[in-house]
Amino acid sequence: MDRTFLFLLSSARRDGNSVALARAAAAKINPQAQVWLDLTDPPLPPYRDLRPGFVAPTGTLATVMAAMQAATDIVLVAPVYWYALPSPAKLLLDHWSGWLDAPDTGFAHWVRGKRIFLITSRADPDPTVTTPVEEMVKRSATWLGMAWGGALHGVGDAVGDIAQDQSAMQRAQCFLSGDNH
Ligand SMILES: Cc1cc2nc3c(=O)[nH]c(=O)nc-3n(C[C@H](O)[C@H](O)[C@H](O)COP(=O)(O)O)c2cc1C
Repeated sequence: MDRTFLFLLSSARRDGNSVALARAAAAKINPQAQVWLDLTDPPLPPYRDLRPGFVAPTGTLATVMAAMQAATDIVLVAPVYWYALPSPAKLLLDHWSGWLDAPDTGFAHWVRGKRIFLITSRADPDPTVTTPVEEMVKRSATWLGMAWGGALHGVGDAVGDIAQDQSAMQRAQCFLSGDNH
């Protein structure tokens, strides 16, 4: 099956380090096989826990869900904020719970066929800084039955700093090719 990659951006600024690292990882992928969505623009609505009820996703949420369903590979692109995912990315995961509760979405079934990757940037070079966010995404994805593609972490603070992290930029080149998992 041809692979198609959905890149989900979640930084509070545009054209920052995490998206630059993601662009480096996407460089060898056919542009026709890439879809890029910014979870901040337009923003996702708040998550409401309606259990035991549910509502079907509409608007921006329906757009993101359809893009996820159409992709074989989902790439969460996120700066590290307070050792965690930034709120737009975390909010999407919260909505996934709502999609699980809305049976007509079929989410619980079709999400199992997806592979998920994580690409982050952070200021602190201490490699343990990314442990909580990587574990959280990996465990959540595994719980959903998704395949774990792996994580790519880079270091940078000001916009453009990531270009100085030659190790991360080097790893980006084959990160999405399947050699790393
Ligand atoms: C709200 C906020 C929280 C942050 N928390 C952390 C942190 O916990 N650890 C860290 O190393 N860097 C932290 N940073 C720095 C960012 O991760 C860093 O600037 C990153 O390169 C931003 O990525 P972006 O350019 O894609 O937005 C934080 C930045 C902001 C704005």
